Amino acid sequence: MAKDQEPLLAEERPSSERSSERNIEEEDALLTGQQKAQSRKYGWPFWREVGAFTWALLATVLVIILGVLYQHQQTAHPSESGGWEEDWKPSGKRNMIFMISDGMGPTSLSLTRSFRQTQSGLPVDDVLVMDQHLIGSSRTRSTSSLITDSAAGATAFSCGLKSYNGAISVLPDHSPCGTVLEAAKKAGYMTGLVVTTRITDATPACFAAHVNLRAEEDKIAEQMVGEYPLGRVVDLMLGGGRCHFLPNTTEGSCRQDDIDVVKMAEAKDWSFVSDRKSFDGLNLGIGVKLPLLGLFATTDIPYEVDRRQMNDVFPSLDEMAQTALNALSEATRDSDKGFFLMIEGSRIDHAGHSNDPVAQVHEVLAYDKAFASVLEFLDKDDVEGVLVGTSDHETGGVATARQLHKEYPIYRWYPDALLNSTHSAENLAAQLAHHIKFHPPLGKPAISNYVRAILLEQGLGVHDATDAEIDAILDTSDGALPTVYVFADIISRRAQVGWTTHGHSAVDVNVYTSNPKHARPLIGNHENTEIGDFIREYLDVDLEGVTKELKEKSALLANDWMGKPIADVQSLAELDHYAGDFKKRSLEDCGCGLKH
Ligand SMILES: *[C@@H]1O[C@H](CO)[C@@H](O)[C@H](O)[C@H]1NC(C)=O
Ligand SMILES: *[C@@H]1O[C@H](CO)[C@@H](O)[C@H](O)[C@H]1NC(C)=O
Ligand SMILES: [Zn+2]
Ligand SMILES: [Zn+2]
Repeated sequence: MAKDQEPLLAEERPSSERSSERNIEEEDALLTGQQKAQSRKYGWPFWREVGAFTWALLATVLVIILGVLYQHQQTAHPSESGGWEEDWKPSGKRNMIFMISDGMGPTSLSLTRSFRQTQSGLPVDDVLVMDQHLIGSSRTRSTSSLITDSAAGATAFSCGLKSYNGAISVLPDHSPCGTVLEAAKKAGYMTGLVVTTRITDATPACFAAHVNLRAEEDKIAEQMVGEYPLGRVVDLMLGGGRCHFLPNTTEGSCRQDDIDVVKMAEAKDWSFVSDRKSFDGLNLGIGVKLPLLGLFATTDIPYEVDRRQMNDVFPSLDEMAQTALNALSEATRDSDKGFFLMIEGSRIDHAGHSNDPVAQVHEVLAYDKAFASVLEFLDKDDVEGVLVGTSDHETGGVATARQLHKEYPIYRWYPDALLNSTHSAENLAAQLAHHIKFHPPLGKPAISNYVRAILLEQGLGVHDATDAEIDAILDTSDGALPTVYVFADIISRRAQVGWTTHGHSAVDVNVYTSNPKHARPLIGNHENTEIGDFIREYLDVDLEGVTKELKEKSALLANDWMGKPIADVQSLAELDHYAGDFKKRSLEDCGCGLKH
């Protein structure tokens, strides 16, 4: 049991509250070192008085001691393996696990909670594990917008600084900012990143890469394995996104060039694993060799609702998280420094972009499971550690309410409508595309029957689809909604779940911790950069030093090492203002689903 998990004094010593006076007296004797009276030389009344006096004295002493000890517990908890000094600064060896629920806003929680209660017949007070660890909320705007993207959001966490949407740990003046992971590595910590999306996607990238725009994922892949000014700073990466590591001459590559980043990584000592069998061989992180690069999908790992039916192909977030915890813990066993690990529930965001409530509830549940595993790890581990969890922003503007008719709405939303769905909208749209591609030309009745019987009834659990809905799914005309959105809308309407956007929103997001006493600066409502500040302070690392080194070394490099610069520097530092364009934009140029 970690020191911070120890109960307070009152719970630690129940005997002082619950047992008889005699026990208290004995305990007092132990505490004060005074012996109980033995002699019988004097008469009973004398002894009664002495006894009463002694008892009063000892009781007073006990109260004072308990008071002092309790006060001490309240203000500090130093220990040899790491702990907290009087000023709440941590000391000694310690681990930090930072969890990011990408795109999870407050409504995602009520959505998932009610879904789970309905699914498993749980009581109204049944909550997620996360719910029991809520300590505050975070404000998320970036320098360029009131609505952040994941890049600016993660830069706030990694550098503790605001930047523009699209920035991968680069500031509006196009200078790189040192990250908590880079600084942790320099200070002697081991480091890790675990995600379900591409490891080169904006959130993980912000911890170990610097580029002007998040789309430069090929460059990000090279930087993350150590091909950049600081050399290798990550010890473990698990997730998807293999395609950015393979040369364009290889099947399954999505690189623009023929650089083999896996080879590059292996030359820098990385072990590379890329399938379920090799993942199982990692034995949940026991006895693995670091640095370790595990990329288990070409791009993103499938949504949990689909993945669990392909469990023999893709590991889960929870399995990857446990693997990382065990591997980093083992690798730091004999070190006086612990580890920094970032774990992301990456695709809660994607479910929000698709407006898919089914995909979302299963993503949140998978994240909650990983959250519980981290708590369990901290509980058992004898090194101090803290878990801090938050989101970079909300996605979808999801509402557990939706008015479907003109009349004043009744107050209902229906989680049970989501229960029979076995696939995400993304998966159903892919199945449809595959079916059309690999089956001989089908007439409209045949394809409509396929959509109704296989995709809607079996896949989405919808048995009352209208012909208009099936037509909308099959509509391929210009300006038709993407098929994914149509499937997601069909199920959202039945559950009466509302969505205001296929993008992000500006609502504050929740902040969680394993122990509020050890993340006290994060209690309440904070700017997202304060989360980065907290990580830096907790690890006690020097971000400015890393920034200085990055700037010095990048002066010696080709000036496009961070990708193409963005022209309008001014607009990156200042918020956009309304310019009357509400009617200018049509659906075609919405870039739907592209920017996360
Ligand atoms: C692969 O990358 C090289 C540059 O590294 C480029 O010349 C070539 O055209 C690319 N091939 C394909 C098929 O994209
Ligand atoms: C889900 O499936 C079960 C079993 O087939 C059925 O009884 C139930 O009505 C379905 N629920 C919904 C909301 O369609
Ligand atoms: Zn995000
Ligand atoms: Zn997003």
